[in-house]
Amino acid sequence: MQRLRTFLEHHCDNPSLVDVIDGLMVACKDIAYKVQLGSLAGVLGSAEQENVQGECQKKLDVIANDLLKNSLRAMPQVKGLASEEEADPVACNPDGEFLVLFDPLDGSSNIDVNVTVGTIFSVLAARPEDDANHESIYLQTGERQVAAGYVLYGPSTLLVLSTGNGTHVFTFDPRIGEFSLQRESVKIPATTKEFAINMSNQRFWLPEMQNYVADLLRGEEGPLEKRYNMRWIASMVAEIHRIITRGGIFMYPYDSREPAKPGKLRLMYEGNPMSMLIEQAGGKATTAFEDIMQVEPTSIHQRVSVVMGSADEVDTVIRYHKG
Ligand code: AHG
Ligand code: MN
Ligand code: MN
Ligand code: MN
Repeated sequence: MQRLRTFLEHHCDNPSLVDVIDGLMVACKDIAYKVQLGSLAGVLGSAEQENVQGECQKKLDVIANDLLKNSLRAMPQVKGLASEEEADPVACNPDGEFLVLFDPLDGSSNIDVNVTVGTIFSVLAARPEDDANHESIYLQTGERQVAAGYVLYGPSTLLVLSTGNGTHVFTFDPRIGEFSLQRESVKIPATTKEFAINMSNQRFWLPEMQNYVADLLRGEEGPLEKRYNMRWIASMVAEIHRIITRGGIFMYPYDSREPAKPGKLRLMYEGNPMSMLIEQAGGKATTAFEDIMQVEPTSIHQRVSVVMGSADEVDTVIRYHKG
């Protein structure tokens, strides 16, 4: 079984990027260990503090964030970082080539009920003249990502990664402490009968989304002429992994509750990295009106409406939004 570093050295022409991914995995292996221990490591429960998102942080949100931050700051290749759990960007090493943006623990509402969570990361290039204390240098479109990935802390610990040449799946082997290649260049089926959305928000969606889901729920009798099945795990990282593995469509769409926030999910460290992985695997990722990776960022923590997965199903959703 090919180990991660060997695979990267063949697939990635920038040795510094290989080092950054390797360094991220050091922190993620530590997070995986703490997730496995759960209450035995005293990592469950609330941290009794709020993050910049207005969310009550879990202890493991903070622990995972600190592990990643410390690991990245120790890497000369990293110029700066941004995190869901940090109000502002953090400057690391002035000569670093890369910016790393991450969601240290995605799906953290699930951690206390022992349901799969994960870490999501996005890597952008930095310029020598960039000041990593300034938010502006991080505000690059998703198309400019040089790498994206997630580590899934589930029954197995998996790494799903792209450096621009396909999306690849690695399994962590605790016997040797290494990630080994499981599937190279995965391809998402173009069609699906499985959808993922939080139905309790139905009354807040745009009419176009309400119409699509209403037709979808009419099954064979409806215009979409097929019986769908539903999933909702409330960990984006687990939903996207199911889709990368067997197809499907995941939606966290525009929501009228807070018009200033076009959705719940964050563009820079959830929408963009997942879009790269999905599109590198032959799927599609849109806001329903434009490609997610073409959205011009205006702030590090900005929200984005998310529709991603099997290409033909995403095209159907786009068609419903064409008016
Ligand atoms: P995070 O735990 O990093 O804040 O992200 C949670 C996100 C995403 O993982 C998931 O798909 C979504 O929140 C679930 O939202 P609801 O609880 O509203 O269903
Ligand atoms: Mn959160
Ligand atoms: Mn998240
Ligand atoms: Mn998170």
